[in-house]
Amino acid sequence: MILVTGGAGFIGSHTCVELLDAGYEIAIIDNFCNSRPEVLDKIRTISGKDFKFYEADLLERDKVEQIFEENEIEAVIHFAGLKAVGESVQIPLQYYHNNITSTLILCETMAKYGCKKLVFSSSATVYGDPASVPIREDFPLHTTNPYGSTKLMIEQILRDLYVSDNEWSIALLRYFNPIGAHESGLIGENPNGIPNNLVPYVAQVAVGKLECLSVFGDDYNTHDGTGVRDFIHVVDLSRGHVKAVEKVKSTSGAHAYNLGTGTGYSVLDIVKAYEKACGRKINYKIAPRRPGDIAMCYADPEKSKKELGWQAEYDIEKMCKDSWNFTIKNS
Ligand code: NAD
Ligand code: WQD
Repeated sequence: MILVTGGAGFIGSHTCVELLDAGYEIAIIDNFCNSRPEVLDKIRTISGKDFKFYEADLLERDKVEQIFEENEIEAVIHFAGLKAVGESVQIPLQYYHNNITSTLILCETMAKYGCKKLVFSSSATVYGDPASVPIREDFPLHTTNPYGSTKLMIEQILRDLYVSDNEWSIALLRYFNPIGAHESGLIGENPNGIPNNLVPYVAQVAVGKLECLSVFGDDYNTHDGTGVRDFIHVVDLSRGHVKAVEKVKSTSGAHAYNLGTGTGYSVLDIVKAYEKACGRKINYKIAPRRPGDIAMCYADPEKSKKELGWQAEYDIEKMCKDSWNFTIKNS
């Protein structure tokens, strides 16, 4: 059985569907601090399969131990964490406590029960402002906000853990910009309040909930002056986790993998693709740069292709189409 922490969240829910489709038994732990219980039934509906669920906080050690006591956990995919960059600057202690302490409790419990296979949700944010693109896994690591620092610190903790005990097998998956939704429109990204991220914001402008997108900067050194990112369909990203589980089951080590498409699209490319997908005009205006943003960020996905046997399949049209389908079904 695979334990999925944060399995009710955006990426976790899609990954649970892919794991169930691949024939894995799963257990989910989530405290719903950034998700809703309804998601669980939607995972069941899409997959036609059932699973165990524990409503608990990973900070509650006894609850985490109970899961390992009651189930034969073979590997863990660890999504649970707080992820809003701006908020992490406001409440850094909560970010460090929630993200890092919960990972320590999880790993201590795993060690206690002899489960040493882990797939961790890291982020391309650990590359900071890269000297060049595409970004390879061996590029220098650097962070600029507490959220990013939690990811980098956890990566270091997990590398140290492997050095201390070579039975551990750990995949550090560095996600680029996950967007889109399951094509059923049942699960997707549903942020509380005004979205921080580009595509959820564009979706709300398209559906009429928000009036106008602010494009943060049009004077970057990119093909149209707006920021360039490696947007990846969440279903492709989720399939990368199934491959990573297979990898950690068959090897040992602590290895980082980029999960991105290798192609960069600008903010205005996204606006155009979304307009095409929804058949509506997206109002936008040019606004000042957002502090902390970088011009370009996209992956070199070769290592994942070679070592995990994974590559992204879906293009930007499919990402926008599935995001729009989810938005109209859930507004
Ligand atoms: P999400 O907020 O939708 O999912 C995280 C889930 O974890 C939520 O369901 C939340 O309720 C749960 N959770 C948080 N803290 C918990 C705790 N202490 N105990 C139990 N449950 C807890 O986020 P997501 O977009 O699905 O991201 C999943 C992971 O991937 C996170 O670690 C995030 O930092 C990382 N990541 C996300 C992105 C992105 O753009 N979405 C990019 C890179 C990395
Ligand atoms: C993308 C582009 C913005 C909103 C963040 C985190 C990163 C990772 C993924 C977790 C940028 C522009 C955005 C808007 C805009 N998360 N934009 N108007 O900043 O690449 O990455 O999410 O690990 O750590 O930092 O994603 O979607 O916020 O921005 O013009 O209203 O869209 O300036 O160029 P980002 P994003």
